[in-house]
This record gives sequence, C-alpha cells and structure tokens, in this order.
Amino acid sequence: MDQRVGITITEHLLREQRESPEATGAFTYLLNELIVAAKVISREVNKAGLVDILGATGDVNIQEEQVQKLDVFANRVIIERMRHVGQLCCMGSEEMADLIEIPPQFPKGNYILLFDPLDGSSNIDVNVSIGTIFGIYKTESPDTDFDFLLSEVLQPGTKLVAAGYFIYGSSTIMVYTTGNGVHGFTLYPSIGEFLLSHPNIRIPEKGKIYSVNEGNYRYWDEKTKAMVEYFKTKDKETGRPYTSRYVGSLVADFHRNLLKGGIFMYPADLKDPKKPAGKLRLMVEANPLAMVVDQAGGYASDGHGPVLEIKPQELHQRIPLYIGSKKDVEMAEAFISEKLTL
Ligand code: AHG
Ligand code: MN
Ligand code: MN
Repeated sequence: MDQRVGITITEHLLREQRESPEATGAFTYLLNELIVAAKVISREVNKAGLVDILGATGDVNIQEEQVQKLDVFANRVIIERMRHVGQLCCMGSEEMADLIEIPPQFPKGNYILLFDPLDGSSNIDVNVSIGTIFGIYKTESPDTDFDFLLSEVLQPGTKLVAAGYFIYGSSTIMVYTTGNGVHGFTLYPSIGEFLLSHPNIRIPEKGKIYSVNEGNYRYWDEKTKAMVEYFKTKDKETGRPYTSRYVGSLVADFHRNLLKGGIFMYPADLKDPKKPAGKLRLMVEANPLAMVVDQAGGYASDGHGPVLEIKPQELHQRIPLYIGSKKDVEMAEAFISEKLTL
C-alpha cells in the first residue's frame, strides 16, 4: 500500500477477488465500470450547482447544451456505460418501467444490475446530498429469453451478491459490500480515485437518531403514530427522546445513521392510495441498503419481518422501510406488527 495514497477501491476489489476462489474478475470489472459511471455523475452533480448559478438563462447551460434533469442524466450514464461491459444479462432502473435489455451487439454475462440512478432528486437544486444506489444479483440462466428474464430478477435480497451506494455530497463517498463486511471509500478528485476511508463499517446496535418525514403524520395509522411517539418520549434509561434528523435523501439519512447509529423510517401511509405501502422501492432502494446494513450488524424490516427475505412480486414494488440500528428497528417492528404496546 502506498503510504501517501492509501488503498484504492480497485486494490480493495482485487484483494476481495483473490479471497474468493470462484472469482473470475468479471465482477471486479463490472463494479469498476459502475464506479466510472458514478465519477461522471459526481462531476455533473457538482457542476449542476454551478449551472444553477451561471445558467440563469433557464434551461440552457453554460456549454449551450440542453440541461438534462440529473436523474435522467444519471440514468443514461449508467445504462450507456454498463450495457457494453459484457457481464450483464439485463438491468433494472428506478427510472425505467421495464427491464433494460443488453443490445445484441454487446456480449452478455451472468449478472443483473438494479439501481436508483439518482436518489433524493428533490434535493438536487438545493445543494443537499443525493446519491446512487445499486444491487447486483447473479443468474444461473443468463441465456433466458429477455421476455422471461424478470423471473430471474425478482430474487429476494438474500440472493444479492453485492450492494452499495454513492453519495454526492460535501465529498463523494462509495459504500459497498460483497458479503464480506461493509467498506467506505472517499473520492479524491485531484487523483480521481476512491480511497479506503471507512474500513469494516459497523453500525451501533442502538442509536440516538430517528429519521422520518413527520409531515406524513396525518396519513399514518395508530400503530405508526405510537411507534414514532416512542422515539420522541422522554425515558432516561433508554436514552430517549432521540434526536430527529431528516435530510429527504435516503442515501444521506441512511449513511449518517450507518456511521452514528439510529433508525430511518418510511412507513406505509394513506397519502397516495396508489402507494399504500409507502414510497420506497424494494428492488432498487430497500434491498441494497438492507444488505449493507445487515453486513454492518444492523437490520432492515418492512415492519413485519426482514426486508431481505421478501419475495419480490414486481420490479417497482414499494414497501414500508425501517432500517438502521438493530435494536431500534426491532422496536419499530414490534410496534408495527403489534407485538408490543407500551
Ligand atoms: P428518489 O429521488 O430516487 O425518488 O428517492 C427519493 C426518496 C428518498 O431518497 C427519500 O428518503 C424520500 O424519497 C423522501 O420522501 P419524502 O419527501 O416524501 O419524505
Ligand atoms: Mn430513491
Ligand atoms: Mn431516484
């Protein structure tokens, strides 16, 4: 390890590859290409602020290009970069209604990439941290006809081979797991490398932070109200009331709680009758973060059981999400599944 630079993500990935006998390097190549896409998005996200300041003429940016919404841009960057890597049999994006086919001119592979290209989009224009979330599955039948691939995609989170996220904030951070712990890397723009900054992340078993959009209070059922009330109630022995922190970007709220401890909640609500299970998506948000938090010693629940064990029914399925410190999520689950009333 070069003392001046530290461990790069590539070095870390190659170390992990050497430790897994069946590794062929395909996965390392796949993740490296996703990292390049994230670097491109990170640069654009940072420029977006600049464009906003300098792009006062409305929808034309400083290079006289049409300003693309960053989530559309991020989606395009990932799809165009990943489809020629030759390691995927298909992709699924939060932004695309259907599975994304690998064009016939590109070789296919055994992996499936699912992603939320830009998480926290409502925060882009107010310079608050946003991110990209990804999960990677393997398929035993990559040659399945594209029309039947969805059944290969709809695997429970326990089958994920890797998951993680990028946060585009005061610095750009990548956090990922392949099932051997959770590791965080910080992007050094001057050398364009992600360097290991958070080895073996472990989430505190119990936190002091709760994250929920209390503006939805009127749309919650009584169990949910009682559960949130629990974290706000004064009780010295259990360190309550917790502090409220809510950024509105899942990746940012999740990352803070991962490092400091705490619980993030997006309960089911009656706000939108079309989304009775709440807003967050199982395949591209909940499952990847559930694998990360599980590997860091935390827990993710839909209020009734482990997120990772949910058998997905559809690509854009939404679920209620309670994720973070194990003891806090177990408490929330006890309220929601009515195993506990105080
Ligand atoms: P996305 O931008 O990918 O649609 O995700 C936004 C999500 C998530 O990032 C965040 O936790 C949640 O929306 C915030 O929702 P509310 O504004 O309803 O609280
Ligand atoms: Mn999202
Ligand atoms: Mn998104």
